[in-house]
Amino acid sequence: MNSLSRRSVILGSLGIVATGTLAACSASQPAGTPTAFGTPTAVPTTPGQRVTTAKLIAKRATLDLGGPEVGTWAYGDTAPGPLIRATAGDLVRVTLDNQLPADTSIHWHGIALANAADGVPGMTQDPIRPSTTFTYEFVAPDPGTYFYHPHSGVQLDRGLYAALIVDDPQEPGGYDLEYVVVLDDWVDGTGRTPDDVLTQLIAKGGSATSGGMGGMGGMDHGSMGMGGGAAPFGDAGDVQYPHYLINGRVPAAPDVLAAKPGQRVRLRVINAASDTIFTVALGGHRMTVTHSDGFPVQPTETGAFYIGMGERYDAVVTLKDGVFPLVAAPFGKQGQALALVRTGAGAAPPATLRPDELAGPVLLGTTLVAAESARLAQRDAEATEVIQLNGQMAPYQWGINGGPFGENEPIVITKGERVHLDLANMTMMTHPFHIHGHTFGLLSSGLRKDTVLLRPMETIAVELQADNAGDWAAHCHNIYHAEAGMMIGLNYRA
Ligand code: C2O
Ligand code: CU
Repeated sequence: MNSLSRRSVILGSLGIVATGTLAACSASQPAGTPTAFGTPTAVPTTPGQRVTTAKLIAKRATLDLGGPEVGTWAYGDTAPGPLIRATAGDLVRVTLDNQLPADTSIHWHGIALANAADGVPGMTQDPIRPSTTFTYEFVAPDPGTYFYHPHSGVQLDRGLYAALIVDDPQEPGGYDLEYVVVLDDWVDGTGRTPDDVLTQLIAKGGSATSGGMGGMGGMDHGSMGMGGGAAPFGDAGDVQYPHYLINGRVPAAPDVLAAKPGQRVRLRVINAASDTIFTVALGGHRMTVTHSDGFPVQPTETGAFYIGMGERYDAVVTLKDGVFPLVAAPFGKQGQALALVRTGAGAAPPATLRPDELAGPVLLGTTLVAAESARLAQRDAEATEVIQLNGQMAPYQWGINGGPFGENEPIVITKGERVHLDLANMTMMTHPFHIHGHTFGLLSSGLRKDTVLLRPMETIAVELQADNAGDWAAHCHNIYHAEAGMMIGLNYRA
């Protein structure tokens, strides 16, 4: 980070030093200096390949959350933004028109795409300047539930997020209808912006003026979770939000899924929140979890499941007759997010109703087991790397392998290798750890994930097939942690 202190880099992310990106700083690249990635070369279609196109406008918008009106930034006039739906193998071509007063970018979360389309300014592309357009072109190789969002500053915590569904041409079915359920924690336009929140976190955390990671032992954050039951996450979030949303609605005016009794519905649940782990339950029902981060798991029945920021779970439910609350309860925080499932007549339950299923047992995603078809081929690792998450709230410093992003050394791997990664959380908070461009497998169960919840002091061993060359980001999906430095490069050797 050369002459820049950590604090000035963080302030840089607020736009004071221009680019405001999770990737703007590196030893050779002071924050604010754009690199010259240029325009990506067009991706040619193969014979018979379908092309899915979309045009997005990132702009200022006033949204009605179902009562509260908020000024924010969104893809068009809604949050979530437009659903993009493709079939596995399609070429996806999306043009973004940046009408925001700031640089932006789009990351296609979870997709094993070509590096040039990964959407990380300073790492895979130049920031998209205001009043310019950028076209993303990539092949979506794997079916599943994904989403897209900016990789610029803390813009994810505005209204800039939407679902990306990749259909399976060989979909075995087994359900009658589906419903995309996007969870969010909302603060923008309620008197604070996400940039204000980051400033406050840094200020509250004490004077983060020293440049190094001297305080990064990371054991001194005392407040434990209040999630009820056997709280597995310790401290799970830093921010109390005024609203929790399902599909952009507050509980007082919920989104309604209409269906018929006895129908089987596939819920595609996406946690697009920036700082909130949710517990999800459909009152009066058991769910069968079928997919995690897009990939099939051995079907597992539960009354409720946890979902961390950046994670996705698909679950199939056979619906009863009536009106039922689909609730996402923020772990360790007040309030809840609500949608309704309506298959019959009757009054809606009160917006504050907590389904019994939330009381547990609650499924923790890392206990799922991969479906046979989702396992990486059996193979010994040729390389071992350690990714150690460091930091604490006070001072508000987060990093990986002993330093914030830009001061830490990228992990370097070789194309073709099987890489064993030890993901080690050395802090007293839970972090959803996300790796771009790959879906790794948990060593214990084969479970395929691109985002995995690491509980306080927990280490999870995963294996990754190095089959997608490029420079990739790996980071905590708490956007405030990531922006404060909890990120590292994962680079393929030339
Ligand atoms: Cu959804 Cu790098 O993130
Ligand atoms: Cu984190």
